[in-house]
Amino acid sequence: MSVKISKIEQMKKIGEELLDLKTSPLYTYRIENNYFPVIGEGSLDAKIMFVGEAPGRNEAKTGKPFCGTAGKILDELLASAGIKRTEVYVTNIVKDRPQENRDPTQDEISIYGPLLDKQIEIIKPKVIATLGRYAMVYVMKKFDLELQLEPIGQAHGKAYEAKASYGEVKIVVFYHPCAAIYNWKKLPMLIEDMQILKGIKTNGSVSLLSRSNGSVEA
Ligand code: URA
Repeated sequence: MSVKISKIEQMKKIGEELLDLKTSPLYTYRIENNYFPVIGEGSLDAKIMFVGEAPGRNEAKTGKPFCGTAGKILDELLASAGIKRTEVYVTNIVKDRPQENRDPTQDEISIYGPLLDKQIEIIKPKVIATLGRYAMVYVMKKFDLELQLEPIGQAHGKAYEAKASYGEVKIVVFYHPCAAIYNWKKLPMLIEDMQILKGIKTNGSVSLLSRSNGSVEA
């Protein structure tokens, strides 16, 4: 007899696995600083799943993704496309804070990546929106889009069609919201890119308005 485990229970299991991830080079740093791991937050039935890089200090202190300055920008970007944060799921590839917000290492990405893979299988998003270069590379490689990888300066705002175990999925590439912290002049471009998600309907088909790839239906 097959027993269907609820999405909440499946996500809880990932949370437990994450809490006990002693093989991670970031585990000791988490414990020494009383930080939390950041599993992710949002609707487990979300059509859109945002994947960032790794938690920063605010995130590690609260256990919530994108709750600091980058989060404020993400909220602004979502609002510009008429999307509520509660409708989407927001997470990162690496789920513990790297020291001094350094870039995640390949080793760390390999350790935490499988947890993100499991989250994708639970949520089954129609659209995976990558935030920043690390998320773009990880997600595109995962969905066999390696040959289409290009620098984020060219890929941002584009949608790529891929096949997940549960059906069609679109990968949409965005700059990391921090790009607007380093250079405020980039904000209008980030806002323009986000409009690709504007056509997402809450019931039925997902229509993306891609400035580079034309309009595509899922
Ligand atoms: N930057 C990220 O990539 N993720 C967060 O959760 C916060 C900042």
